[in-house]
Amino acid sequence: MIRSVIAGTGGYLPARSLSNDELAAEYNLDTSDAWISERTGIRRRHMAAPGETTADMGAAACREALARAGADASEVDAIILATATPDSAFPSTATRVQEKLGIRQGFSFDISAACTGFIYALGVADSMIRTGACRSALVVGAEAFTRILDWSDRGTCVLFGDGAGAVLLRATEVAGEGTDSGILSTHLHSDGRHGDILQVEGGLVRMAGREVFRHAVSKLASAVDEALKANGLDQTDVQWLVPHQANARIIDAMGRKLGLPPERVVVTVDRHANTSAASIPLALADATRDGRIGAGDLVLMEAIGGGLTWGAALARF
Ligand code: UT7
Repeated sequence: MIRSVIAGTGGYLPARSLSNDELAAEYNLDTSDAWISERTGIRRRHMAAPGETTADMGAAACREALARAGADASEVDAIILATATPDSAFPSTATRVQEKLGIRQGFSFDISAACTGFIYALGVADSMIRTGACRSALVVGAEAFTRILDWSDRGTCVLFGDGAGAVLLRATEVAGEGTDSGILSTHLHSDGRHGDILQVEGGLVRMAGREVFRHAVSKLASAVDEALKANGLDQTDVQWLVPHQANARIIDAMGRKLGLPPERVVVTVDRHANTSAASIPLALADATRDGRIGAGDLVLMEAIGGGLTWGAALARF
């Protein structure tokens, strides 16, 4: 049987990084480092340079994923890119990344599932690899979120940042059902009734933070339970939690639910803020680069975002 194995991870952050105080001063915000860090865990965020596109950031993340997999762009036959901040409605940001990487074969397309985008993209790519529609895929989350923030709304503009992350998935023949390497399963959900609590309206992000928070804790918990159950696994089997990075309080709650010590939960929200679809692959890149996550480790990913969309994925590295 065929499994999608994570062959390499990569991440890219724009050069410019602003602390909470620097952001407040630059945009004349009525806020404080204390409020932002206590409520969210966020201390800094990166901001794309003028003219730096979502595709530029996505391509940079892909280059690292390919290099770390020891792969050449010529082996990639799909690019599936999740973003809420595409450079244009079309061509898709994925095809722009394809062009930047010099890839001439295969296909590429974008996925729209807001902050859950990477889990959705992983699910689609894994399904396509398992059915033989492609042999390898770059799965990317890339966002220039600071371009859609309302700088007069302190309740949202302090929360987000820019960046991109990517993984290279490779079709790998495994002996049988019992062989659990690669993506074990993905679990995708949405409920459009709650679309208005986190949306882009008139080109800018609007969020009813408390409402989203309330949904986050219960929906993430049920997606995580679903993923473990589908694989006959127990929470004690999970070695790493790599959650979407929206709020340290939500991340801590999920870590506690799984009974994981804090050092087994990958956290980047302090340095990156919420990078939407990019946050999970950026966190994966962080924790594989420094050797925390290694071969054989069982990694649980989960996210919730606008739609509402939410989901979870389990992967053995
Ligand atoms: O990535 C997609 C998923 N997104 C999420 O998971 C986000 C989930 N939500 C959250 O993380 C939290 O709800 C927030 C961090 C967004 C907000 O925290 P909160 O504890 O829910 O605060 P709140 O929005 O209820 O606001 C509390 C107070 C308000 O003042 P009053 O009405 O109590 O006087 C706000 O006006 O804090 C005020 N406030 C601020 N004060 C200083 C809101 N934003 C700020 C700010 N600085 N930046």
